Amino acid sequence: MHKLALFASGKGSNFEAIVAACNRGEIDAQVVLLICDKPQAEVVRKAERLGVECFAFSAKDYATKEEYERQIVHLLDSKGVELICLAGYMRIVGSVLLEAYGGRIINIHPSLLPAFAGARAVEKAVEYGVKVFGITIHWVDDTLDGGKIIAQRAFEYDGNDPEEVHRIGQQIEHKMYVETIKKILK
Ligand code: GAR
Repeated sequence: MHKLALFASGKGSNFEAIVAACNRGEIDAQVVLLICDKPQAEVVRKAERLGVECFAFSAKDYATKEEYERQIVHLLDSKGVELICLAGYMRIVGSVLLEAYGGRIINIHPSLLPAFAGARAVEKAVEYGVKVFGITIHWVDDTLDGGKIIAQRAFEYDGNDPEEVHRIGQQIEHKMYVETIKKILK
């Protein structure tokens, strides 16, 4: 059985979908660690409820990004993590983590990259007035949402409500992330 670590900062609906898929045997893996940079985030409570070990930290308690990333790498190593899945982790992955786990980190992003990279992707796409939205899963490198694309899904939406786009997109994300992790592990 493979070992996954998930990184998240918010609600954790992708985290929950991936843990559930592992628990029902759809993905031949176990989520052995959640890394969260927001100790008050909903995803931390979800991890407790689902029995997933969690390392929640505040960047402001560390002098540098290198310092907290060294601690994260140590934890990942001790758990034997093979693949890292960023699921709404709203922080740029730094050099320490990339040197240790580069080529084994994937991210899900709520736009059709390379359009609308970075934060507020859905809001920016709605403000721009696009009619085709989408989701991208890509490898993480030292660029902002610029790593090699693994999978993309598009959907049409003709309106101006970012919440609705988030809702539609997240339903796609949950299935798509599980399918993609399965493929990568094979
Ligand atoms: C997801 O929709 C994901 O695409 C997005 O954060 C959300 C997290 O939701 N990621 C980014 O915007 C990365 N730039 P969740 O906490 O419910 O899984």
